[in-house]
Amino acid sequence: MITDTGKKIYKAHVKRIEKVSKSTYFIEIEPREKQEIKAGQFISVYCDGLTLRRPFSVFSNNNGNIGILFKERGKGTAYIKSLKEGNDIDIIGPLGKGFSIKPQKALLIGAGIGIAPMAFLKEKLDKIGAESLLAAGFLNKDEIPSNVYPQKIYTDDGSYGEKGSILNYLGLLINEFKPEIIYACGPQIVLKSVSRIAQEYNIQCEIAMEKVMACGIGVCRGCVIDIKKDGKVVNATVCKDGPVFNGNEVVWQ
Ligand SMILES: Cc1cc2nc3c(=O)[nH]c(=O)nc-3n(C[C@H](O)[C@H](O)[C@H](O)COP(=O)(O)OP(=O)(O)OC[C@H]3O[C@@H](n4cnc5c(N)ncnc54)[C@H](O)[C@@H]3O)c2cc1C
Ligand code: FES
Repeated sequence: MITDTGKKIYKAHVKRIEKVSKSTYFIEIEPREKQEIKAGQFISVYCDGLTLRRPFSVFSNNNGNIGILFKERGKGTAYIKSLKEGNDIDIIGPLGKGFSIKPQKALLIGAGIGIAPMAFLKEKLDKIGAESLLAAGFLNKDEIPSNVYPQKIYTDDGSYGEKGSILNYLGLLINEFKPEIIYACGPQIVLKSVSRIAQEYNIQCEIAMEKVMACGIGVCRGCVIDIKKDGKVVNATVCKDGPVFNGNEVVWQ
């Protein structure tokens, strides 16, 4: 069925669900209609009994089967976690704008669950033969999902890879890898710093923002942020105008 926003509502079913780290789950969903999805786009999941759908970045799209990586936070994610293979699931998507795909040397930064769209982006860049480096930061070894394969890993407590915040290593990564573009997803504080550092090095930067969402399709204005356009500060919705933005355009809080 096509909604009046032109997006498709899928009736879909759960193909598999598994725990992939101490607090992260992977769910693969088989939609009735399969379609191309850009890295950075998200799906909105109806969670039994809850008015608002919950948004999740697309982590994989294998033969039209959509994968998401999620952390259990509240009722919505607890519901998704409770689903079993073969259960029906109601999703809308793909929603929002994705990352640009260019044949440029790319540094990908994924912090925490922000690894999800970055891993999908890496696949897309590999397909066009773009040289890329995926670097990821986690709290500790137990939080690293078993189905992600970053080339560089940083943990806050040093229990795996290099010790400390990924941000402490960003300058080093830039100097060694010399990227032409930086992509990032993670907590706002990380995105803000990555954008600032990219600007200092005069490197293009695209970041995927997260905001609590209501409608997910640009109608309620609940996810508005300020961005700079043509010398003016204007509103943009994270769900429809984003979630991917040029890091230099965002007016950081
Ligand atoms: C574009 C986008 C992509 C996302 N991708 C992923 C993903 O790939 N994997 C993943 O695990 N999560 C992702 N999130 C966050 C995810 O939507 C929330 O974790 C989820 O909605 C929580 O629902 P809940 O009912 O379990 O928790 P709730 O009961 O709704 O909330 C529990 C806690 O989580 C916080 N929270 C709720 N919604 C969000 C939100 N949208 N962003 C940040 N914090 C929130 C609340 O403030 C509260 O502290 C994404 C969010 C956006 C906007
Ligand atoms: S969530 Fe409604 S406008 Fe973005």
